[in-house]
Amino acid sequence: MKEIKVGLIGFGTVGKGLAEVLLSQRERLVRRTGMTIRLAGIADHGTAALPERFSDIPLTQDARTLINDPDIDIIVELIGGIEPAKTFVLEAIAHGKHVITANKALLSQEGAEIFAAAAKRGVEVGFEASVGGGIPVIKALKEGLVANRILSIMGIMNGTANYILTRMTDEGMPFAEVLKDAQKLGFAEADPTYDVEGIDTAHKLAILMTMAYGMPITHHEIATEGISRIEPMDIELARELGCRIKLLAISRNHGDHVEARVHPTMVPQGHLLASINGAYNAIHFHGDTVGNVLLYGLGAGSIPTGSAVAADVVDIARNIRCHSIGRVPALSYLPEAMRPRRI
Ligand code: HSE
Repeated sequence: MKEIKVGLIGFGTVGKGLAEVLLSQRERLVRRTGMTIRLAGIADHGTAALPERFSDIPLTQDARTLINDPDIDIIVELIGGIEPAKTFVLEAIAHGKHVITANKALLSQEGAEIFAAAAKRGVEVGFEASVGGGIPVIKALKEGLVANRILSIMGIMNGTANYILTRMTDEGMPFAEVLKDAQKLGFAEADPTYDVEGIDTAHKLAILMTMAYGMPITHHEIATEGISRIEPMDIELARELGCRIKLLAISRNHGDHVEARVHPTMVPQGHLLASINGAYNAIHFHGDTVGNVLLYGLGAGSIPTGSAVAADVVDIARNIRCHSIGRVPALSYLPEAMRPRRI
């Protein structure tokens, strides 16, 4: 039976989730793919030893041990941040390895260079886990909605911010205390400023817009405001007006230009998005042929996000097996003249 070997860089919240999912789903993945998917090595700076159930997996402190290993087919980058993640990803691509990343900061800033390098080298970049945690939103956009012009994207894309707003609203909890809980539960970024200031949401919206509108967009181009200044008084006022406050990402394709913003929004209590609570995300697309599509699920957390990374591993493994790399292109930009304008 064919074996696909995966090298994992980063054994934090999502890395552990991936290892757990590959272990608990091992037999199912064999049945569903006809291949064995093996975690052939883990690289992590701060991990001295792996838990007993992973003790057959080689552990190294040096990511390049995996990148330079000719037997490894896929490198999974889960360290987050721009550097050294970018260097590792580009080196892995240069070595002819397929790459999977959940790194929305990296993709929303350096995606154009990474995707160009991968296309040139003939390898794939999987990034399902970069948006929406466990929700298969990238697949939906890339595959299910491929025959659509996307007219709008709107949703709740940060589990931490939604968790904080939910507990502030329903339990009257103070902001700082709920943030600590979100960190303990493994929802928040290493730097939670990204979550509470809307930057993580903007990273995700930039990735979706880039895919949906066929033009490279970075998060710097998105007007962004977070939830750190929301006070109990704002929540009470929203309640009196029959609303809940949600951190929304909103983008519309106006044909000749696109609109994009991230900000706290008063959402009427009867609206679907008002009922999305805790670390859940909900992402709505309006396509010109399909109409409305709403995706809902856990947007953060170790195992749900690990499930999304595992889906990329399987996707790439299947493509390797069928010798059909690039079967589902990650990104395809429209010719310059056909793109909407930035304003
Ligand atoms: N910190 C992110 C969130 C993790 O809370 O949504 C998932 O991208």
